[in-house]
Amino acid sequence: MKSVVIEQPNQLTLAERPLPQPAAGEVRVKVKLAGICGSDSHIYRGHNPFAKYPRVIGHEFYGLIDAVGEGVSAERVGERVVVDPVISCGHCYPCSVGKPNVCNELVVLGVHRDGGFSEYATVPARNAWAVPAAIPDENAVMIEPFTIAANVTGQVNPTEKDIALIYGAGPMGLTTLQALKNVYNVQQVIVADRIEERLAMAQRNGADWVINNRQQPLAEALAEQGIKPTLIVDAACHPSILQEAIALASPAARIVIMGFSSEPSQIIQQGITGKELSIFSSRLNAGKFPVVIDWLARALIDPTKLVTHKFDYQHVTDAIELFEKDQRHCCKVLLTFN
Ligand code: NAI
Ligand code: MN
Ligand code: ZN
Repeated sequence: MKSVVIEQPNQLTLAERPLPQPAAGEVRVKVKLAGICGSDSHIYRGHNPFAKYPRVIGHEFYGLIDAVGEGVSAERVGERVVVDPVISCGHCYPCSVGKPNVCNELVVLGVHRDGGFSEYATVPARNAWAVPAAIPDENAVMIEPFTIAANVTGQVNPTEKDIALIYGAGPMGLTTLQALKNVYNVQQVIVADRIEERLAMAQRNGADWVINNRQQPLAEALAEQGIKPTLIVDAACHPSILQEAIALASPAARIVIMGFSSEPSQIIQQGITGKELSIFSSRLNAGKFPVVIDWLARALIDPTKLVTHKFDYQHVTDAIELFEKDQRHCCKVLLTFN
């Protein structure tokens, strides 16, 4: 079989590898579609501190089970599945409090262990979630990015009363936007970005108001309308954003951060305590695959609004380069395996 292997930073090969056999408790997935994410590019470029090389990248993938290991029902062969990349131990403290996404022994497919940019991938059977027949392949492959939004929103119980502000109209901002508007019915969702085309995508994904914060400071734009956001999600993840969010937030607001920057953020405590703000973080997803499958089954979210490009996996280098260079026209780029 062919696999997309990052041999070392900046060296990608389409390697011929032996067809893997599923171990006990595993299934083998014949991959049909996969999504390119920022973290794939970071591993490719050597910017992911968790990555070890060589590595088959890809943690957003969908396919068919074509073999099962010992202890897994043979009836699962042929099942359409989407794969949760989070592999956890099940018994450490974070696992015991429902946060397998930060397990002490966390293994993420496509990061710590070979992932889904491959004609076949073996994964724990419990990570392979059956996709109902009514959900098309193109939507199934988008479940993982929406689980990030399910995790972000699940931290803060959004309500119709909220006035939400999302920083960043990339895939993460847009999945969060769809969740807030269409799952939680938040009345007003504002999206800030510095790229006009991305803001246009936010409008197509349901934003009530978009602000180009390169052209006008956010504080000024919000003050003009007398708006203090009650829920702020940082899906742009620059270290300076947290303090700005603290300053812009309504008293009693919640803020969710999801960035991995190692640069310090300067925070003024008074701004947090004075308004009794709650600051949450969100990493990957904690058991959110069934949640998002349900959102899709009820047609609450529309992943097709995020997909801008599709490439055959043999053109993966072109696909990643386009994804990296053209944020104006690219959002989610899919790879097809046939
Ligand atoms: P992206 O790079 O496609 O989107 C980020 C957007 O933010 C861009 O459109 C950019 O123009 C905009 N932006 C940058 N600085 C801004 C600012 N100061 N104000 C407003 N907008 C600004 O990235 P993607 O895939 O949407 O991911 C967003 C972030 O989320 C990344 O930093 C990524 O590392 C992080 N992430 C975190 C995850 C988690 O589980 N915690 C999972 C996936 C991504
Ligand atoms: Mn991803
Ligand atoms: Zn654990």
